[in-house]
Amino acid sequence: MNGISDKKLLFKSLYIEIKAILDGDANTDEKLLTICKLLKGNIEYYDWVGFYLVNPTVKNELVLGPYEGEPTEHIRINFGQGICGQAAEIKDTFVVQDVSKETNYLSCSPRVKSEIVVPIFSEGELVGEIDIDSHSISPFTDEDKMFLEEIANLVAGLFQE
Ligand code: SME
Repeated sequence: MNGISDKKLLFKSLYIEIKAILDGDANTDEKLLTICKLLKGNIEYYDWVGFYLVNPTVKNELVLGPYEGEPTEHIRINFGQGICGQAAEIKDTFVVQDVSKETNYLSCSPRVKSEIVVPIFSEGELVGEIDIDSHSISPFTDEDKMFLEEIANLVAGLFQE
């Protein structure tokens, strides 16, 4: 990827593809998995892409949903725990450019160097998160944040009654 404009173009085309996936006939899990694969496969520094979903029956708990990348032991995460749990608590995007500097962190793999977590809201309620791990330090820019927040808005449609 050479510079911002390439990244912008890539994000624009991925946005269109994700819209088409969401408009398709597959079920929710299949759609989320296809999105994970698309993002991991097309953005070189996205090394693990997954969704955590708010458990509707257990208060303040996230449950691992579809993902693409190495298996993780963190299937259930309480709000406040790790980067995912902190994002759920503050209800905002949480970017950690160097996970070695974050004390409240749940490691999935020693290869992971940075992480971005973007909340998904449906009708004002937190319903899940997009979680991305990278093997690079400081790879995430404002473009990533904006792009992923747009994707979270699109995905939110799956959770509307
Ligand atoms: N690192 C996360 C846990 C989930 S894994 O990245 C898949 C955290 O600190 O919440």
